[in-house]
Amino acid sequence: MRSLIDILDLSVEELDQLIATAKDIIANPVAYQDKCAHKKLATLFFEPSTRTRLSFEAAMMELGGNVIGFSSANSSSASKGESIADTAKIISCYADIIAMRHPLEGAPYVASRNASIPVINAGDGGHFHPTQTLADLLTISREMGRLNDLTIGLCGDLKYGRTVHSLIAAMCRYTGIKFILISPDELKLPKYVRYNELDPKGIPYEETADLEEALPKLDVLYMTRIQQERFDDPAEYARLKDSYVLTAEKMALAKEKMCVLHPLPRVNEISVKVDDDPRAAYFRQALNGKYMRMALILKLLEEAKNDPIREAIDTSNLVYDRPACINPRCITSTEQELPAVYKLVDKTNQIYRCIYCEAKSVQ
Ligand code: NCD
Repeated sequence: MRSLIDILDLSVEELDQLIATAKDIIANPVAYQDKCAHKKLATLFFEPSTRTRLSFEAAMMELGGNVIGFSSANSSSASKGESIADTAKIISCYADIIAMRHPLEGAPYVASRNASIPVINAGDGGHFHPTQTLADLLTISREMGRLNDLTIGLCGDLKYGRTVHSLIAAMCRYTGIKFILISPDELKLPKYVRYNELDPKGIPYEETADLEEALPKLDVLYMTRIQQERFDDPAEYARLKDSYVLTAEKMALAKEKMCVLHPLPRVNEISVKVDDDPRAAYFRQALNGKYMRMALILKLLEEAKNDPIREAIDTSNLVYDRPACINPRCITSTEQELPAVYKLVDKTNQIYRCIYCEAKSVQ
């Protein structure tokens, strides 16, 4: 039995299979309408969401399954102080699969180590959002006809935008990919994404603050919202919130064959006037998210049926003797009984990263 916490939990072949299944669902929805009959999806949303939660729910319903769950931490026993581990064990008694969103990084991972059913990470803090990446991949594949040989511009909040982190990890495994990272200095891509994904794989990338300069080079433009809720300093958010606005005039600089993606919700970073541009793919992307979630639910439930034992983790490069993680957004910051566990990610420079949130160990 497997969970999906990080997009890298899926091989490229598996991503391609999920895309093929999603395309088949689009072509033959009736063939899938009873595939999850009598199965239950639990949506455990400790943080607000519209499209992710509702698209998971719609996905399960279109497979003939049922949905239980909650849409805010206040309406769950978390408000009474229940741990993620206990919640995961309890929900395993009631459902067949879990989709979990949590403001703290690593929470779905902790759930997956304690649940006896598959857990899908539906977004953990500023860390990962693998099912949004599934939606992004299907969209790029349908809009551009390929996932190779693309120059991808990522624009906006590259620091806290978890969708960006997961998309980079996924796209780095395709050939001919180049990234242009467009952000203000304060919101640049976290070093761990650069060190884990871009640098070791030798993926070419440029960093710039200038959207107009980058636009003509792009095959895909991935716009993101400045993530207000993750800022410690409201003044900094106020200063950065209007960093980028994609307008119809700016779209005139872009290639004729390109596509604009956005995980949504949008605030003001894409003018509504762009919506009618045929290259604006973000609403189609939201629909693609439902199909990819259907394909993913089918895959994980099938695997759990064939192999109900939780997949073991590779402990060979883990260490347990380091001080607690200092990332205030790490799940260990509130669940203090969780052991501090680090992974050796760079032997030469002796760099260890927290297994829950990937923050660097201080020692
Ligand atoms: C994204 C998220 O939650 O990270 N939204 C989504 O899942 N579609 C992007 C965002 O909130 O900006």
